[in-house]
Amino acid sequence: MLSYRHGFHAGNHADVLKHWLCVLTAQYMGQKDKPFLYVDTHAGAGVFSLKSSIANKTAEFEGGIKAIWDKKIPSAMMPYTDLIKQLNGSSNLKLYPGSPWFVNECLRSQDKARLFELHPQDYVLLKKNFDDKRNVKVEKQDGFAGLKALLPPTSKRAMVVIDPPYEQAHEYKLVVASLKDSIKRFANGVYIVWYPLINRTDSLTDNKKDMAQTMVRQLSLAGGKSFLDVRLWVRGENEAPGMYGSGMAVINPPWNLAKQLEEGLPFLVKSLGTTAEAGYSVNYQEG
Ligand SMILES: C[S@@+](CC[C@H](N)C(=O)[O-])C[C@H]1O[C@@H](n2cnc3c(N)ncnc32)[C@H](O)[C@@H]1O
Repeated sequence: MLSYRHGFHAGNHADVLKHWLCVLTAQYMGQKDKPFLYVDTHAGAGVFSLKSSIANKTAEFEGGIKAIWDKKIPSAMMPYTDLIKQLNGSSNLKLYPGSPWFVNECLRSQDKARLFELHPQDYVLLKKNFDDKRNVKVEKQDGFAGLKALLPPTSKRAMVVIDPPYEQAHEYKLVVASLKDSIKRFANGVYIVWYPLINRTDSLTDNKKDMAQTMVRQLSLAGGKSFLDVRLWVRGENEAPGMYGSGMAVINPPWNLAKQLEEGLPFLVKSLGTTAEAGYSVNYQEG
């Protein structure tokens, strides 16, 4: 069952954290001449219109990218906001990129991207958005299976983004299984996983909250050489039901990623927080 459309959520606070982190990581990967492979297991449509009826149904972008757009951006965040300006051709915010677009803009001619998307409509949009890119291959295939077939990469360097909708509870377990298998196949990969921070008071999502926490714990023990867990919450956990923030779990993060994120996170809390209980955390651990 594929009911999730990222267009409803494009540019929200979770996207800001996720895409900023992806851009910093892709730029780091590009610092060495050796090529790398980018894999996006759940790629979405690639580009979203913030003027569309879908985006404006809940207008989540207003509590995300729109809320920082006219502010003085910390320098650590500029590579991310500059790419959005580049897509829009100006400071007029009409379009918002998805993870494959952000990372693709950071790739060099020697790098390659493999994008997986199962939703029939978003797959068509994704394909269209990358039609003219020779080093990008778009596939309508399960992203977990696609990833398995690509590891280890011939380039011996890879950045992998895993961003499932988590509409089905078993997706948390699939992520852990996929990462354990991926690390066995290719221990040196940089693996990035998005996850929601879900409120306890919403009885329907209680189980998912526990599953997300368990997933992150298991990812931290999955065999990476180092592990980074970054969280941004825009209100207190128990102030309202639903998703109050998000986190990014990174296996084998770039050495300077935590520091770069800490330079921008206080700004995001101030700009995106809706109550005094908004906050962030950055936890880094070796091996
Ligand atoms: C959260 S969205 C991705 C957003 C995108 N990564 C971004 O940041 O712009 C999740 C996407 O995964 C797709 N999807 C769900 N299950 C999938 C699977 N097993 N393999 C590939 N894509 C899947 C959904 O159709 C949806 O477009």
